[in-house]
Amino acid sequence: MSDFVEIYEMAPRDGLQNEPRAISVAEKVALIDALSGVGFRRIEVGSFVSPKWVPQMAGSEAVFAAIARVPGVRYGALTPNLKGYEAARAARADEVAIFASASEGFSRANLNCSIAESLERFAPVAAAAAADGIPLRGYVSMVTDCPFDGPVAPGAVARVVAALRGLGCHEVSLGDTVGQARPEAVDAMLAAVLEEAEPAQLAGHFHDTAGRALANIEVSLGRGLRVFDACAGGLGGCPYAPGAAGNVASERVAARLAELGYETGLDLEKLAAAAAMARGLRG
Ligand code: HMG
Ligand code: MG
Repeated sequence: MSDFVEIYEMAPRDGLQNEPRAISVAEKVALIDALSGVGFRRIEVGSFVSPKWVPQMAGSEAVFAAIARVPGVRYGALTPNLKGYEAARAARADEVAIFASASEGFSRANLNCSIAESLERFAPVAAAAAADGIPLRGYVSMVTDCPFDGPVAPGAVARVVAALRGLGCHEVSLGDTVGQARPEAVDAMLAAVLEEAEPAQLAGHFHDTAGRALANIEVSLGRGLRVFDACAGGLGGCPYAPGAAGNVASERVAARLAELGYETGLDLEKLAAAAAMARGLRG
């Protein structure tokens, strides 16, 4: 029997945020409009973060204003603090995301604060999103390996997942930010996280640096996860995670899921065209 798996398309945000070339609003909009026709339920459009920290995401409000929104597609944004949340709300983001780390080293590098401080900063964002009725997603980065702190204990991931769930995140995405996770480590991490959350409240977010992202997705499927983040064309990386390469390519995830008998609802020809467009944006 076929089983539905959602691919959350992230090329406009996680895919482009690390590109050194300044990509214009028009180019980003063209990519998002192409992705909107593929059948994704959610597309992460941009980030309302400090432009000093991630220059490529400056102008996300102009991108939101210019895209042709397709009914049934939710357009999401990263919001690290209340300032970012207010900008995302003004841009009419359909979903906002707060993003924490399971390792202290990456929390400092990415957010300039400890894990505990980041959670305190997210609390007013979560409260505002709840008051406004905007769905809130959470991310946990460095779920198995951290370039600053080394191996990450499964219990540390589970604690941050529990905190994000406590803030009201309907879904927490588990990030192998640097793409070094081994399937056994992902499985052990999921065993701990599933003590805190149901599979339907979790998503997998695998970068593909070491070529193990598809294997990690299969382990996650075995644990019941049915949402995976990916980037058309395999774009991506995080400017504050040394060694982070591209996210696993949406077209490869879609093809593998089809082989495994899962339904994704995606038009693979349109996805291939959007992936080619995404790769063309690379510097
Ligand atoms: P800070 O420097 O500690 O913050 O940065 P601050 O409050 O002192 O503000 C510094 C300046 O930024 C001020 O401007 C603020 O107004 C401004 P100034 O007075 O100097 O002119 N500012 C903002 N501007 C626009 N929008 C905002 C905003 N907030 C402050 N929202 C901060 C703290 C969190 C802002 C910073 O560290 C930051 O923006 N970090 C974001 C880093 C980021 O986006 N990383 C990539 C995304 S995470 C990722 O890729 C991982 C993921 O894919 C999952 C995975 O793979 O694991 C999600
Ligand atoms: Mg990422």
